[in-house]
Order: sequence, then C-alpha cells, then structure tokens
Amino acid sequence: MSNKTLAIIKPDAVGNNVAGAIIEKIQSAGFKTLAFKLTRITPAIAGQFYAVHKERPFYQDLIDYMTSGPIVPIALEKENAVEEFRKLIGATDPKKADPGTIRALFGTGIEANAIHGSDSDENALREIAFFFSESDLVLING
Ligand code: RTP
Ligand code: MG
Repeated sequence: MSNKTLAIIKPDAVGNNVAGAIIEKIQSAGFKTLAFKLTRITPAIAGQFYAVHKERPFYQDLIDYMTSGPIVPIALEKENAVEEFRKLIGATDPKKADPGTIRALFGTGIEANAIHGSDSDENALREIAFFFSESDLVLING
C-alpha cells in the first residue's frame, strides 16, 4: 500500500494567486511535500492524464481548461494519503464541498475547482510518475 498522492493546483487557482495559500493548507494538514513545480501541459499530455474521462461530456472542456495556464503538480506523502487528501479538498463541485475544504475556499466552479487529488493508490503512483522522476522524489525526501 502506497502512502503517496498527487495534487495539482489547477490553472484557476494559480491565476488567482492562491497557490501559496493552498500549499500552506496542505502542509498544515500534515502532508509531506516530496516535490512540486510550476509547469504547463500540452493538450496531448492532458489527454493522457485524463484518459479515463475520454467518454465524459466534459472531457474536451477539461482538456482546454487544464492547458489554459500554468499548473502546480505536487507529490505528497502521508498515512492513507489518497483518502485523507480527498477529504481535505472536498467534493468536485465547490458549492457542495464541506466548509473549510480547499475547493470550498478556493474553487470557483465545478470545473475550475482549484485542485486535483488522485482517486486511488494505483492512480497516485501513475500520476506522480507523470510529472516527476524517482530522483526528484528521493532528492527532496532526503
Ligand atoms: P480530480 O480528478 O480533478 O481530483 O476531480 P474529481 O475526482 O473530484 O472529479 P472527476 O470526476 O475526476 O473530474 C475531473 C475534473 O473534471 C472537471 N469536471 N467538470 N463540467 C462538469 O460537469 C465537470 N465535472 C468534472 C473538474 O475539474 C473535475 O475536477
Ligand atoms: Mg478524479
């Protein structure tokens, strides 16, 4: 069982200058930051990342949105990381997210919901490998 998860601060949150506030919230909640970077993804890369959503009606919008500006992927570690992180970010729709969650605080819509969190241990490892090499994680992790 893995104790890692991948977060992505999405373009709306980076553009709204709340990336720092979100990182602070994640670290205050006890997650260890293994690696993070400011980057952008191409439509082809976004398509690979969200391949599971290919048949969903919001797929093309999601690809356009995730490639619309810089993002901040973050590799995180904590016991029960995937589940704990999804609790911290709240429901997909910020209007339905519990008060105090990252999406309730910083999301502006069901798509522009500020942050991504992996949904399983298997996907967490796949998604971390998407953005970071093993040496990125080892270096920062000591
Ligand atoms: P994420 O993968 O980003 O952590 O979000 P999630 O599990 O809560 O939601 P998911 O169903 O995996 O959807 C991925 C992202 O697609 C956008 N979305 N738009 N317009 C819509 O109805 C709609 N539904 C989802 C959101 O950005 C969502 O986080
Ligand atoms: Mg998801």
